[in-house]
Amino acid sequence: MSDLRGHLESRLRAALGEDKSEFILLQAPKNREHGDLALACFMLAKAESTAPPKIAARIAAEFEADEIIEQASAAGPFVNFKYRRAALARSAIEGILRQEAPFGPSPASGKSIVIDFSSPNIAKPFHIGHMRSTVIGAALRRIHLYLGAEVHGVNHLGDWGMPFAKMMTAYMRWGEADKLAEQPMRYMFSLYIRYGKEAAQDPSLDKEAAVHFKNLETGEDNEERKLWQFLRDESLKAFQGPYDRLGVSFDHITGESFYEDKMAGAMDRVIKAGVLTESEGAGVVDLKDQGIKVPCILRKSDGTTLYHTRDLAAAFYRLETFAPDRMLYVVGSEQKLHFQQLKAMLVKMGEPLAKKIEHVPFGLILAKNPDSGKWEKFASRGGNAIFLDEVLDEAVANVRRIIEAKNPDLTNKEEVAEQIGVSAIVFNDLKNGRIKDVKFDWDTMLSFDGETGPYVQYAYARLSGILQKSEAPEEVDSLLENLDYELLADAEDVLLTMHEFSGCMQRAAEQSEPSVITNLMIKVAGEIHSYLHEHHVLRAEEATKKARIALVAASRQLISTGLGLIGVAAPDEM
Ligand code: ARG
Repeated sequence: MSDLRGHLESRLRAALGEDKSEFILLQAPKNREHGDLALACFMLAKAESTAPPKIAARIAAEFEADEIIEQASAAGPFVNFKYRRAALARSAIEGILRQEAPFGPSPASGKSIVIDFSSPNIAKPFHIGHMRSTVIGAALRRIHLYLGAEVHGVNHLGDWGMPFAKMMTAYMRWGEADKLAEQPMRYMFSLYIRYGKEAAQDPSLDKEAAVHFKNLETGEDNEERKLWQFLRDESLKAFQGPYDRLGVSFDHITGESFYEDKMAGAMDRVIKAGVLTESEGAGVVDLKDQGIKVPCILRKSDGTTLYHTRDLAAAFYRLETFAPDRMLYVVGSEQKLHFQQLKAMLVKMGEPLAKKIEHVPFGLILAKNPDSGKWEKFASRGGNAIFLDEVLDEAVANVRRIIEAKNPDLTNKEEVAEQIGVSAIVFNDLKNGRIKDVKFDWDTMLSFDGETGPYVQYAYARLSGILQKSEAPEEVDSLLENLDYELLADAEDVLLTMHEFSGCMQRAAEQSEPSVITNLMIKVAGEIHSYLHEHHVLRAEEATKKARIALVAASRQLISTGLGLIGVAAPDEM
């Protein structure tokens, strides 16, 4: 029995009746002295038309202690429950070390989730702005996998449409293959900048791009098609670098171009639903009756398709291919209207699929302007794009310097610097609620105290060190053999925090909020640090030592799981 909360919930369901399940709302008590978990009786009282304190008193009086729950006591509208200390310790430690649910990966849940994330526009650099979608989406992918869902992580590359056609035009006009080969992303970016500048002077460029796109959309094996293939291959190769460093993988790399032959079918459905209207030669869906002023354009007057057309085709394709329960789009807040339109269009078409679509927006990355001291949009620094790999390199260089100063004898310095540098950025990104802007500040990110990646990693390394010195058996059965869990009554704060894991996982998944896990890891690290500050492990008396070693091993395992889920490495030494 690892799931104490689940145990309490099922006892309450048995006592109150299955029909009351949805009213069984457990939360942390206001005051921890009162108990470990509180049942708020407001909803139950409403259902039975009585006063909450009355219900609370009745539930507490009728509740019988068992091998897991020691007592139930009413406090106003709440019932507070207290776990037996040995049960608290046994369930957490065994559950974590044996990797049983809810601490270990869940068995298949039968749920299917599509997560559209990262999705950069190719032939443009993978810049810092794409990092958030990549990091948040990858964490959500791992969290849903851990919870037993069938997950389809999709990289919806921007490899079609006018933005791509502009790049193609620039390359056809000015591109040189040998320069591209040298530094593909930087070279493409310089072409992109040049295109922007020249197109501002010379409108014929955009016309030329439109013709190239039209030629590409004919589906013929022409010059545009060859160039498309070439630029796409080069970009994908270049993106792989940052993806590898961030430990990110996808289940499908199906960009906008993948829907080339699927857009006609999607358009047919729009026409059949009777919602497509003509406006100056273009095909649009008016959304005013859905409360959206801006209509959705699906076909331009020259017959070519748009970003929206591909998202519509993609939505149908994903529905039919993956039968998803949820379709998440991890895309910045600036595309809020785009997803509102997509949903509204589907609602207007009478497609139930609309309900599955969830835009998962996020805030900006901000950097401090060294002159004004103000926080501003990161990428706007001097008008230049900031390349993600440069930022990762800078983080690693900073960590290398810290290691040289603090621990120059560390054996695998390079590897550790890479792990800590990259993960400090990931951790910083996933620490606050995703809708908040992320402040990008090296000193804070790389600090070893405070709510940072290095702080939690340091806790992990410290636990690894203790375990190594203890020479305790690695094998879980021997580690747990004859363990007296009563001896861990003094570790209740660590243990209760561990038990928050399952609730946090549910919340992170439901609300698409990896920060819930990041914060739990900060809390676990904090609790185990304080515990170790007050209690000896290796110098404790034999039975106590054995129990504390198991506690250390479980904390280490849980931190490793949590960091793994958010995509942060856990080196044993740092
Ligand atoms: N390529 C787009 C951009 O960089 C993001 C695509 C997001 N996904 C989607 N299905 N629209 O802005």
